[in-house]
Parts: sequence; structure tokens; C-alpha cells
Amino acid sequence: MDLASHSTLSGNARGEPGDSARCAESPRITHGLAQRYVSPSIFCVHLLTLKTVVTNSLRASSGERIGDLRTASPATPVQHDKLARPLTIDASEMPANTSHSDEQLVDSFDLRALDADFYVDPYRTFRALRERSPVHRCPDGTVFLTRHRDLVRVYRDPKTFSSDKQAQFKPLFGDSPLYEHHTTSLVFNDPPLHTSVRKAIGDALAPKVIANMEQDLIRLVDRLIANLQGRRRFDLIDDFASVIPIEVIGNLLNIDHGDRVPLRAWSASILGALEFGLDERRRNEGNAAVEEFVAFLKQLISERRNDLSGDDIITRLIRWESNKFKLSEEQIYHQCIFLLNAGHETTTNLIGNAVHALLEHPDAHRHLCENMHLIDLAVEEFLRYDPPVQLGNRITTTDVEFDDIPIAAGTTLTLCIGAANRDPEVFTDPNELDIARKINPQLAFGGGIHACAGMAVARLEARVALEKLLKNFPDLKPDGPSVRAQRARFRGFSALPMRP
Ligand code: HEM
Repeated sequence: MDLASHSTLSGNARGEPGDSARCAESPRITHGLAQRYVSPSIFCVHLLTLKTVVTNSLRASSGERIGDLRTASPATPVQHDKLARPLTIDASEMPANTSHSDEQLVDSFDLRALDADFYVDPYRTFRALRERSPVHRCPDGTVFLTRHRDLVRVYRDPKTFSSDKQAQFKPLFGDSPLYEHHTTSLVFNDPPLHTSVRKAIGDALAPKVIANMEQDLIRLVDRLIANLQGRRRFDLIDDFASVIPIEVIGNLLNIDHGDRVPLRAWSASILGALEFGLDERRRNEGNAAVEEFVAFLKQLISERRNDLSGDDIITRLIRWESNKFKLSEEQIYHQCIFLLNAGHETTTNLIGNAVHALLEHPDAHRHLCENMHLIDLAVEEFLRYDPPVQLGNRITTTDVEFDDIPIAAGTTLTLCIGAANRDPEVFTDPNELDIARKINPQLAFGGGIHACAGMAVARLEARVALEKLLKNFPDLKPDGPSVRAQRARFRGFSALPMRP
């Protein structure tokens, strides 16, 4: 997937006929990064699987049982440089692999060495962990939580479970643009700084702001649908799902249409650096993306300072003041970068995962098309069934216990939203897609003080996009292999070819 040729609003990545309007290249931006992003072949996937199986059987033969807290030995650092690069998976080609027993899935579970099957269907592994080892010690010493009630406990107690990632990110990113960005973003900060910045972001994403954006969003989706009408085939991610959040965030930040081309590449690279098994190439791409994006935003901020009458998010953050607290220039541009990162891939994945789930469940697809008044319940169910954000993290600030299992202060907890959203303690028939599910305390947007500040924006985008897509293309069908992005934290597709 080459991002360089991506055109907003009226076009798609492959510049297919009928999608002529390409954004004028703006002198303001050097598209250095966009040219470098390509995706590799599937051969490595099998190599990786082979490697994982061999490693785990070697470990098993050495009598070491991974994960089970009763017998865990100290963490065995893994050579990051030996781990797989981000890959894509041809999901429709990969048969569900049932050869691993639940015990093997639990014992071999290592976020830094996941095999191809995991990306096609992580829920089998999550169920095995939730049933057998809900408080799971991973080989790197982190603890993986899979029960709904444990995640709710963590979200509700930000004092004991900190979001401050400075200690965790320093060894990973060193002193770098990525470190500065990720440690300045409000999601990776604790109160009191978090409280002040959250108020500013909350004001910038106030219900009035969202209400005002609905008509623009409807016009945007109508234009995209009109673009797809009459075509024999299209890609749901490139031609539809990924365009919407870029335009929505672009509008909220009031970025010129001509300047929106690199936004997707920047976001993918900065978020890509949060995935497991970070290697030199992704670290360099991430740092370059932050540098380019910051340079671009610094210029925008200095222009907006000359005229503070606007209602866009940048201007609102510049104007924002509360109890003498004002955001610094650095905080303003890093929150803007974070808003794009938080709001782009996530919403793209929500729309893509939802359509994929409907095509895998023809009854639910037909039922929704015939009962579109269920769209809001359906969106909640898509968020529950295949959440775009699968994993979150916290650090314990004191010694704690889960199930009488002691966890020391300073331990990294991984909160598995994907597993918690299918917890039978909370959801009836958790593995069933039920678009009319009424009781649905799904955790796709997290919870507590860090609960997603953009959930209303995401819900609105998904509702308008899905409603119009299903109404205009009721016979939508897959047209060729769906390609899963090989990302554990953010779950979605990098390609979903469709026939209207
Ligand atoms: C389907 C789409 C989305 C999903 C699944 C999602 C999910 C999440 C989750 C799980 C968190 C909490 C992270 C944590 O607890 O560590 C979060 C935080 C956040 N999200 Fe979203 N998000 C989505 C869309 C958006 C959009 C569209 C925006 C902005 C327009 C946005 C802005 C934010 C912000 C600012 C935070 C940080 C809140 C804080 O730390 O106080 N998100 N999101």
C-alpha cells in the first residue's frame, strides 16, 4: 500500500479511473515520509510461525512454563532485531489454526512474537488466557489482563494504575521526537497535567463542535459514495473508510485540503512505533514523521496566533486558559498530532471491521439493512465484537493483587480490551455478533479519566458512514482477499476489496 499517491475526498490510493482530482502539492510540506512506506510478502509470516513454534518447543523442553505465575522464571529479554517487521496478512487465505491447544496458546503467548494466526483471529488466544490465566505473566515481565472486571478496576483507579509512560518509553525511544511526542500526549500523562489538558481537549471537542460538523460529514460521505457509484470494484479502506477520519480531523484542525496528503502516513508511522518489536526502520520513520508534522503545525500555530477568532481546535487550544493554566506551544502541537493518531486509524478500523463482520454474518447484514433504526446499537456491537483498539497499558504505582496474585509496583499491565469485550461474565453469547444487543458495556473506548475524548466523533462517523454505505450498496460483497494489518494494538484491515 503506497501512501504517497493517496488523494483525499475524491480519489483513492491507486488513482483508478473516475478519481481524477489529486490535491495540489503544497509547498508547505515535504512528502519525504510518504514515499518510504511499503508492505512485505507473506512468506516471512510462515517463517515467523515456524520460528515461534521452534522457540516455544525448545523452551517447553527446557521445562520452563511461560506465563503461569506459579512457575514463572525471570523475564527472558528477546532480541528485538530478530522479530518480524510489520506485515500484512491475507486473512481470507489463512485457515483458522486449531492445531495449538489452549494450553499451548497460553504457554507460548508473547506479544513480541505473535504468529500469523493470531492476527487473523486473536479471540481464541484471548479466550484461552481469560479462562486459564486471566492474570498472565508474559515472558517480558509484563502482566496481561483479559477479564472485563479487571480492566474496569484499573480504569477506575488512575492513582494505582498510572498512564505515565516516561519510564517505559525512555529505553524504547531514547531522547527523540517520538519520546517527546508520546510523553506529552495527554493519554500518556497523569493528573494534574492530564486534568488540565483534558479540559482543554474536552472544550475543543464539545458537543456543539460535534453537532456543527455533522452536515459536513454527511456531505463528505455522500461525495465518497457518489464516487463509488458505477464502479465494478473498490477498496473499502482506501476509497472510503480511511478518507473519512482524515477529513474529519483535517476539518477540526482546519488544515487546508491541499496539505492533508501526508497526514495518513505520519499517523501510521507515529502509531506504528507503539507496536511490539519496534525495529530501527520503524523508529526512524516514527521520528521523521513527528519532526515533519511538528514543523508543519508550528507554522500553522504561528499563523493562527495572528487571528484568534477561528473555532478550529488549534485556535481553541491557543485561546484556552483555565485557572492561569495555558497550554505551551509544545503541548498544543503534540495534542494536535495525538488527535490525528487517536482519531484516524481507530475510526478507519471501526468502519472496516464493521463491514467485514457484517459480510461474515449475512443474517445480521440483512437485518441491519432492513432495520436501519438499529444503527446506533449496531455500532456499539461492532465496537464490542472486533474493537479497533485491542490493547492499553498502565503501570502499577504500588504493590497490588489480582486473584491473590501479587504484582509489584512498577509492573506494566496490558489491558486487553479485545478479550474483556467477549467476557462471558458480562456478555451473553460473547462470540456472537448481535446488532440489536441492548446490554453492552463494551470497553472499546477505555474508561475512567482517560476514557476516549473523541468517542462522540467516532460514533457519529461510523453511524453516518455505515448507514449510507449499506443503504447505497445493500448487496455489497467481498471481491478478493481481505488483508489484515499485522498490528496487535490496533486491529483493522489494510485492504478490503469490495464489489458493490
Ligand atoms: C473507533 C474509534 C476510536 C476508538 C476505538 C478509540 C479508543 C480510545 C481508547 C481505548 C482510549 C483510552 C486509552 C487509554 O485508556 O489509555 C482513547 C483515548 C483518547 N481518544 Fe479515542 N478512540 C477512537 C476515536 C477517537 C477520535 C475520533 C478522537 C478525536 C477526535 C479520539 C481522541 C482521543 C483522545 C484525545 C484520547 C485521550 C483521552 C485521555 O487520555 O484523557 N479518539 N481512545
